[in-house]
Order: sequence, then C-alpha cells, then structure tokens
Amino acid sequence: MLPEIDRTKPLEVLRNYGKEITIATLGSHSALNILRGAKDEGFRTVCVCRERERIIYESFGVADEIIEIGDYRDLLKKSLQDELVEKNTIIIPHGTFNAYIGNLNDLYVPVFGNRKLMLWETIREKQMEWLREANLNLPKTYGRAEDIDKLVIVKYPGARGGAGYFLASSPEDFYEKAERMIKAGLISEEDVKNAHIQEYIVGANVYFTFFYSPVFNRVELIAADRRYESSVDGIGRIPAEDQLKAKINPTYTVVGNFPVVLRESLLAKVLKAARSVVEVSKRIAYPGMVGPFCLETVFDDNANMYVFEISARIVAGSNVGVPYSPYSYVLFGEPMYAGRRIAREIRLASDKNMLEELVY
Ligand SMILES: Nc1ncnc2c1ncn2[C@@H]1O[C@H](COP(=O)(O)OP(=O)(O)O)[C@@H](O)[C@H]1O
Ligand SMILES: [Mg+2]
Repeated sequence: MLPEIDRTKPLEVLRNYGKEITIATLGSHSALNILRGAKDEGFRTVCVCRERERIIYESFGVADEIIEIGDYRDLLKKSLQDELVEKNTIIIPHGTFNAYIGNLNDLYVPVFGNRKLMLWETIREKQMEWLREANLNLPKTYGRAEDIDKLVIVKYPGARGGAGYFLASSPEDFYEKAERMIKAGLISEEDVKNAHIQEYIVGANVYFTFFYSPVFNRVELIAADRRYESSVDGIGRIPAEDQLKAKINPTYTVVGNFPVVLRESLLAKVLKAARSVVEVSKRIAYPGMVGPFCLETVFDDNANMYVFEISARIVAGSNVGVPYSPYSYVLFGEPMYAGRRIAREIRLASDKNMLEELVY
C-alpha cells in the first residue's frame, strides 16, 4: 500500500504566496539544471545543500542563497520549511528526494509535480503496473531466482543509481554472483532477498525526458541521453582474455550521461509511449503527470523499444540538454531544457492564475 499524500497544507501555503516566487531544490542530482532554469525565467533561487556539496553551488553562481543542512532529511524540519514558506518557495523535486526523503508527505512547502506518482515510482512493481497499463513493451520480470532461464539483470528497490546490479544467466549463476558481490561489500543479504530480476535486453539504451504541461495540455519531448555506467562501459576497453581472467562483473553505477539523437522514424513509438503513460497516470493518480518525467528504454536489433523504468520527476540525464537539446530547440525555437521548462511552466501558470494545478 502506498502512503496517503495530503495536499491541503501545501495548497493553503501556496494560496498565501505573493507574486514573487522563489524556486528551491536540494543541492545534488540536477540542481544546477533546475536553478539555472529558474534564473533564466527570472526567479529568485535557493539551494539547500550539505557542506560537502556546497563547493558545487558556490562555483556556478546559480543560487541566490545557499542554506546548509547536515543531512537531506533536514529539509523536513519545521524551522527550515517555515523559512522557505516565508520566501514564497516552490520546491522542485529530483532523484535525491526519492532516494533520501521518501514519501514527501511531511513537506508542506509546495512541491512542483504530482507526489503520488513520485511514490509510484519508488516501487518497481508499481512502475511496471503503470507501464503495463500503458500497453508498453516491457522486459519479462522473474518472481524467483529459481526461474531464471536466460540472461537477466538483478536490481534492487528504489533508485540506487545502478549500484550493485549484476547479470546472471541461471539460478546457480545468480547465487554464485550474489555471494561474490556480498563478499565484495557491493550488496547485502537483504538486497538479494528483495532483488528484482528482469530479462536483460541486449540493445541500445536511450533515456527520454518528457514534460507534461498542464498549461498547454500537451506532452513535450525535451531531451534524450544515454548513461555512462561503471564498470559496464569500461569492460569493452580491455581484451576478452583479460576480462575472463579478472572475472569482472559488469555493474551499472551511473557516472555521467551522453546526449542522444534518435533515428527520426523511431520517434513515433517514443511519442506514443509518452502519451500513453500520461493517459494512464490520470487514472492511477489524479490529475496525473505534471511536469518532467522519463522513460528508460532499450532498442533491440529489430528496433523494438522496451521500456524498463519510468521516473515521475526530472532525471539527471536531462542535464545533457542544458541549454537545449535538438528536440527542445525544434519545439521552442529558443534555449529550453528541463530546469528552465519547469520554471517556464510556473511562470505561465502564475500569470494565468493556475499555480494550484502544478502542486499535488
Ligand atoms: N532490462 C534491462 N535490459 C538491459 N539493460 C538494463 C535493463 N534494466 C536495466 N538495465 C541497465 O541497468 C541500468 C540501471 O537499471 P535501472 O532499472 O535504470 O535502475 P535505477 O533505478 O538504478 O536507475 C540501466 O541504466 C541499464 O543500463
Ligand atoms: Mg534507471
């Protein structure tokens, strides 16, 4: 069961805001993208960050104010929330919110987007249910390691940036590698119990950032990227012979992203999938998608598209789209990227008196 999300308090707070809105986020993930975007659209910005990341936000000058906290969860503290409310703040959530803060229900500072969908995203089974409802092509999920009959990828609950994921091709292989990974301190026994086992699709990975705009009532493709993952992207640099001797397990820790431009004819599938996901979102979590979301896909050698993950907020891959991607440029004819698109939506909604439709 998903926890309830209560919208009453943030809405009440939002209704008392004056014209001058501040945009704030946690200092990590896609904060540079979000804060630059907010500044490009003329907002005041606040970055709430830990001491160890402060250097990043000081170095780029996109935060009008930096508020230091000891731990990400300190964002929930009443004193800090009151300070943000005082500044008419709207918080832009990103992956760090999912990973470290949980259900966001304790935030009464208005949060951009649909928090119910952000909860759906934290549970892999829920994500799969959503994608299945949207009639998308998904890799097969295995209920138990004993059923593994072809190459699979083993993952864990929550967004972990790929840490500790591994491949296996039989039950024996699964247990042997799991044990090796536990010994190496990469995963825990608990992880193995909660493992999500999925058919591995061999192909080209592409991750799409979309934006659903309540103001324009449309789905927009903002950017596409692929990941730079360790060690899977490093293995090809050593000869097969050495790979075998060193018994290297490919792992999927994200280190960065590259921009991708898709073969144009493939865009039809991509855009249809995005629309379909938005349609389903309206049924599963009223009023459905608000703002950025991402589909993670693999195209196999017949250019069939498999979708293996959905995120209901900005993803770090959209950072490759600052100041624009080919897609956002074609659509807007001006520099546009996920962070700026969010701020633009807030500005347009504020002008049209529909800010409440961006906060769920
Ligand atoms: N079914 C799959 N087939 C092929 N590669 C996959 C599959 N699922 C995940 N991957 C690879 O593993 C990485 C991390 O998996 P993902 O499901 O995106 O987990 P996370 O929640 O950590 O982002 C992906 O970026 C991709 O490279
Ligand atoms: Mg992912």
